[in-house]
Amino acid sequence: MPRLVWINGCLSPLEEATTSVADHAHLYGDGLFEGIRIYDRRVFKLDEHLDRLYHGCKFMDFHMTLDQPKLRAIVLEVARKANEDNGYIRLNVTRGSGLGLDPRAVKTEPNVMVMLSTLALYPPEAYAAGLDVVTSSIRVNVPDALDPRVKCIGRYPSNILAKAEANKVGAGEALMLNAQGNVAECTGDNVFVIKDGSLRTPHATSGILRGITRDTVIELAQGAGMAVTEDTMTRYDILEADEAFLTGTAAEVIPMVRLDGRAIGSGVPGETTKKLMALFREHIRTGVPFD
Ligand SMILES: Cc1ncc(COP(=O)(O)O)c(C=O)c1O
Repeated sequence: MPRLVWINGCLSPLEEATTSVADHAHLYGDGLFEGIRIYDRRVFKLDEHLDRLYHGCKFMDFHMTLDQPKLRAIVLEVARKANEDNGYIRLNVTRGSGLGLDPRAVKTEPNVMVMLSTLALYPPEAYAAGLDVVTSSIRVNVPDALDPRVKCIGRYPSNILAKAEANKVGAGEALMLNAQGNVAECTGDNVFVIKDGSLRTPHATSGILRGITRDTVIELAQGAGMAVTEDTMTRYDILEADEAFLTGTAAEVIPMVRLDGRAIGSGVPGETTKKLMALFREHIRTGVPFD
């Protein structure tokens, strides 16, 4: 796939794209991002991703001059130019460029990047076999420091360290708890369990990113007549569940079959999880066409 990048109005191949060394996300992690999928020449959940991004800009007090309809048009234009049927869009917005923590040191408008690339989070065989997950020693950020609902670049080093812990013990993913010791999420995915045919997932205020795939799966499950509860969950709720799975733009829907060396349910991907995976695969055709 040609890796195309649009930065502040300039479109170029990835190798030639440049941004300021004084970019506030480069210096301080002071930026936001979205990962968005292209399926079959359609941008999946584009408006939902843009809504989350612009809510994040408001929270972070970024002075975005590029409005949401214009950025939407740019994303579709970059996708058209990349001319790929399937792919991954990385959308970044940073406060702007300037040295110094004080936001008044930022003298430019926000830097905006739209990058077209590919991303495979887990190997294809993990979708059939399910993921082996370990609980990380690293907790998610506390909401009174930086609310995990904000998809801020500067929140991700903890997730990267948690993922490294999982890698070191040969696990496929790391489960992150919140400061109270309740289940939050995995490093790039939301967590669901299934018990007696009903779904349960940590509440939006449990220290999670409120995933767009999570919301999609909740809608699909409810549409198929399943009950879904969003509440406080502990590791016990995962270990006593019949099935578990993770959701995310990069992950899509992937079974989770073990936690900390114990099988979840029968230790293989369950029938309800497989049904939701199939419903999700049908639903990905609903994106915004770029042709
Ligand atoms: C920490 C975290 N949680 C959950 C998710 C899933 O969110 P979404 O379904 O919007 O991709 C992501 C994906 O980026 C993430 O980074």
